[in-house]
Amino acid sequence: MIQRLSIICFFTAVLASTAGPPDVSGEKAFGTRPYASFEKPAVCASCHSDIYQQWTQAMMSQAYTHHWDEIEYFDLAVPHSEKVPSLKGPVDGCNGCHTPMAYMAGDAPPPRPSENSRANESVNCDVCHTISGFEGDIPFNFSFVSSPGSVKYGAKEGRVSPYHETRFNSLYTKAEYCGNCHNEKSPFGVWVKSTQIEWAEGPYAQEDVACFKCHMPKARGRNAKMAEEDDVAQHLFHGAHDPGKVGGAVELRMHPDERELEPGETVTLQVQLFNAKAGHKIPSGSVEDRMLWLEVTAMDASGREFRIPVDPKGFPGEEYTIASDEALAYQDMGIPKGLADFKGVARDGVPAGSRIFRMPYFDPEGRMTIMQWNTKSLGPDYRIGPRETKIETFTWDIPDDAAPGRVTFHARLNFRKLVKPVADFLGVPEDESEIMHVNSAETWIDVVE
Ligand code: HEC
Ligand code: HEC
Ligand code: HEC
Ligand code: HEC
Ligand code: HEC
Repeated sequence: MIQRLSIICFFTAVLASTAGPPDVSGEKAFGTRPYASFEKPAVCASCHSDIYQQWTQAMMSQAYTHHWDEIEYFDLAVPHSEKVPSLKGPVDGCNGCHTPMAYMAGDAPPPRPSENSRANESVNCDVCHTISGFEGDIPFNFSFVSSPGSVKYGAKEGRVSPYHETRFNSLYTKAEYCGNCHNEKSPFGVWVKSTQIEWAEGPYAQEDVACFKCHMPKARGRNAKMAEEDDVAQHLFHGAHDPGKVGGAVELRMHPDERELEPGETVTLQVQLFNAKAGHKIPSGSVEDRMLWLEVTAMDASGREFRIPVDPKGFPGEEYTIASDEALAYQDMGIPKGLADFKGVARDGVPAGSRIFRMPYFDPEGRMTIMQWNTKSLGPDYRIGPRETKIETFTWDIPDDAAPGRVTFHARLNFRKLVKPVADFLGVPEDESEIMHVNSAETWIDVVE
């Protein structure tokens, strides 16, 4: 046993001496290797041209340069860590997932995107394809082991390339691979991102439908200019920034408890919301930013419109899931912004009475926050799980003066990547808070006299 260990140690030492610093993961990787350890995507592009072009359109290639990432990192996270020194490590850690090369180079904070440094390559080809494993039971906080060099790892066996070695690695077929960056723990030990964990607890894990099947679907083609035709993993990584991915992810139906009613009577509508498309909860990932909400309106025969608030269910913390005109939140943005006694901004920015599917994040003072690194606790998890169906009810007292005839009800499920009042406060470009339509349903009653 001891002999075998020493042989392994010998080989590790030889490898380490030829391949640069030893393979390390997570925080231990900070400042261990220069940018030059990794090849540029342009090099891979000469042979893997389609995959390269797909990647340039995916958020992976913009994880450091995208406007909202730049604003949150440079206007909130970095100034916060300058005021609270214990946050320096966690805030440097943003780069461990958003621009891993910069993290491993110890370049923190990296130059601004406008300076066009290699940090702009964000999550690039070589970072992903030189991941050789991960440390721990559950992957999180860039726990991947990085082994840059001539070996490119992948999900296929026995591939031959004129430029690099290839090696099959079973991690490239497992959701844990993605979990290295798609699960995140805050400095307070709270899971502030848990996409892979949500997946592992849901039905798709049991059926072996991992992330790749939906975000890197396979299609016939060539994965390199000189390769044979094959089923090739498309590097789409389409998620919350793709209206086509978000659209239809949840299916809606709605019906009334009765079809014929008189003015002054009460009708109760049921809306069924079925998460048909996502392998994890909706919303997932940056849950602190995302808004998913259901609005229901009625229109009577004369064209008058009424907004119907959702019926409360009575669970603890439910107030965070029903849109309010008055509630303020996100006061902790005042710390990095240097605003004393900052009152916060509107919590929701969507019509009052809408049902919001969310999980609120709380700062150490118990106020709602979008700063996941400042998250000490979580509120009720009222998101829609994979293949889960939630039912919401809306009760409406038909006005005495409602026009006789048909009343049409509209239910609309909307999505926003970032809470609008936060986006407006921080000057985040509009596309981050635009309304994305997920799905709609309609039903009707007749008002009789
Ligand atoms: C000179 C052309 C060329 C260049 C440059 C090149 N590759 Fe390849 N690569 C290939 C060929 C050919 C294959 C084998 C394709 C096949 O048969 O499936 C391949 C295969 C791969 C595979 C699949 C390995 C597997 O076992 O599943 C990965 C991953 C890969 N390359 C990554 C990269 C990365 C990352 C870069 C840039 C750092 C790069 N390649 C640069 C030609 C190239
Ligand atoms: C976020 C990590 C990630 C990034 C970024 C990434 N890849 Fe991949 N790539 C993967 C994974 C995972 C697979 C295997 C997917 C599967 O088989 O389901 C893969 C598969 C491949 C394959 C084999 C495809 C096949 O099915 O034949 C090639 C070639 C490849 N990648 C090259 C690249 C190149 C070139 C880039 C940059 C332009 C790139 N990758 C960017 C994770 C990544
Ligand atoms: C090295 C870290 C890393 C790995 C590994 C990784 N991702 Fe990501 N991924 C990110 C980051 C960072 C973003 C956020 C980009 C941004 O700033 O909007 C992202 C974004 C995405 C998005 C886009 C979400 C949106 O809001 O539009 C999808 C989808 C995604 N990743 C899927 C995957 C899948 C599937 C895998 C495994 C094959 C994977 N990722 C592996 C870091 C990673
Ligand atoms: C059955 C298909 C399916 C599987 C499996 C799946 N996803 Fe998704 N994913 C979707 C759909 C559909 C969306 C768009 C709806 C949404 O935003 O949640 C999405 C959205 C996302 C987003 C953006 C979430 C947000 O709200 O910002 C990320 C990140 C992501 N997926 C990563 C992953 C990772 C990582 C895995 C594996 C652990 C995975 N997905 C597995 C279908 C899938
Ligand atoms: C464990 C990996 C990881 C760490 C650490 C991390 N992020 Fe992220 N971040 C991601 C992933 C993955 C996504 C995409 C999730 C999604 O699409 O819902 C993301 C999304 C974001 C987004 C939203 C992007 C958009 O366009 O909607 C912002 C902003 C962001 N991160 C900033 C930060 C900041 C600032 C830090 C450090 C305080 C940080 N991140 C730390 C992995 C990480």
